[in-house]
Amino acid sequence: MAWTPVLREEELPEGAMAPAQAGWRRIVLCRHRGAVHAYEDRCPHAGGPVSQGNFTEGRLICPWHAWEFLCDTGAWDSNPAVALRRLPVRIRLGRIWVDA
Ligand code: FES
Repeated sequence: MAWTPVLREEELPEGAMAPAQAGWRRIVLCRHRGAVHAYEDRCPHAGGPVSQGNFTEGRLICPWHAWEFLCDTGAWDSNPAVALRRLPVRIRLGRIWVDA
């Protein structure tokens, strides 16, 4: 694991979702209620690219079968035991860093 700058802070405003690359890993970031969260961009259902779906009302919606995950926790709204894989986030020097 290594801290990697993935976006400038202004590239992820409140209510936004964005894909990024951290080393070899594809990730998806979202900002909800002022907090930034990062997850592997791989749906736990069948591996869909969550970053290519929608982000509405704090929920990341997978484009393949419309499973919804909470931006705050990564949990699937139908069963919190199923979740996106969470990655640590820091904001430093105007950039969003992810430990991937
Ligand atoms: S792969 Fe994401 S909902 Fe099926």
